Amino acid sequence: MVRYYADRAKEYERIYHKPERQHDLLWLRDFIGRTFADTDVLELACGTGYWTEILARSAASVFATDINEEVLAIARSKPVDPGKTTFRRENAYDLPIFPQRFTGGLAAFWWSHVPKARLRDFLRGFHRAFAPAACVVFIDNCYVAGSSTPVSRTDEPGDTYQLRRLDDGSTHEVLKNFPTESELHAAVEGLAEDVRVEWLQYFWILSYVPKRFPTPPEDLSFGEVRLQFVRFVPNDPIRDFVPYYHFRILVSDGSDAGHINFRIGETEHVRVCAGHIGYEILEPFRGHGYALQACRAIAPFVRSFYDAVTITCDPDNYASLHTIERLGASFTDEVSVPPHHPHFQGGSRSKRRYRWTL
Ligand SMILES: C[S@@+](CC[C@H](N)C(=O)[O-])C[C@H]1O[C@@H](n2cnc3c(N)ncnc32)[C@H](O)[C@@H]1O
Repeated sequence: MVRYYADRAKEYERIYHKPERQHDLLWLRDFIGRTFADTDVLELACGTGYWTEILARSAASVFATDINEEVLAIARSKPVDPGKTTFRRENAYDLPIFPQRFTGGLAAFWWSHVPKARLRDFLRGFHRAFAPAACVVFIDNCYVAGSSTPVSRTDEPGDTYQLRRLDDGSTHEVLKNFPTESELHAAVEGLAEDVRVEWLQYFWILSYVPKRFPTPPEDLSFGEVRLQFVRFVPNDPIRDFVPYYHFRILVSDGSDAGHINFRIGETEHVRVCAGHIGYEILEPFRGHGYALQACRAIAPFVRSFYDAVTITCDPDNYASLHTIERLGASFTDEVSVPPHHPHFQGGSRSKRRYRWTL
């Protein structure tokens, strides 16, 4: 896929000249211009910058990314305001935490190339980039017999493929899915709000607001441990408690061995006392490394919020210190527990703080 689009860079925009698609494209250009007016947009897989140019006319700023330098070179030559448009090579599956939070997101003709099994992980990573109430839009192709390249095969997980020819005579097999409306809704279920799907003759449009606190994946597991998501607890501003996810830690035979919490926020409570991750293993289940396995199991979900988190521990809690060190977290410092904090009232006087890079 990556090589194919690098090789296709110079001939890519021919796709936008197909006469029968002009009516829909006019509608889409207008829709994109209106939807992203005055927003700070992160564009994924921008290719040769066809949509970047349209975005840049009305958006406050555009941060356009693609994995291929070959297409980015063409995109950079587009007549866009350099003061508000940035092009950057990024892998859509492994986006960094950007210094700014975007208020809009666009990925045009990208969804169809994402293997179905990777969609939700990809979306979780993408959504880290957005400010609350951001608007995310995907646009892509409908399958139209006579206009679309025929599907050449379907694989075991249900992804479909096309055989595409380039001007140099080379043939490439490219993964290209044509989702139904219910597949689109299912893909963003629990991850998005205000979901809308619009069908034109040649294109579909999916728009939504990413959920700030998405539903965790159901398959968080590692070694002998499986996490069962129990509830999401909203913040408690009076007690300075941040929102958190609560999971039970189940072991191979289904027994409940304890719990693990994941807190979201950077308050004093998190930074100094509780950390982002808190766990407890019930007495009969101790000594098997279940806390360590639970941390490893929760890691993919935590990564959809943070690149690194704080874990704290009382200096005399040797079992927990052992877990944190085996996790590979690095020691930061030891800090005093503030006298007003509930942990102080519980007898805790200092915390060792660690940084766990995910
Ligand atoms: C169908 S083109 C879409 C280009 C552009 N969005 C448009 O609508 O004209 C798909 C793009 O995905 C890019 N791409 C492929 N794999 C990628 C990845 N892992 N991360 C980011 N971009 C990728 C390709 O280089 C190509 O430019």
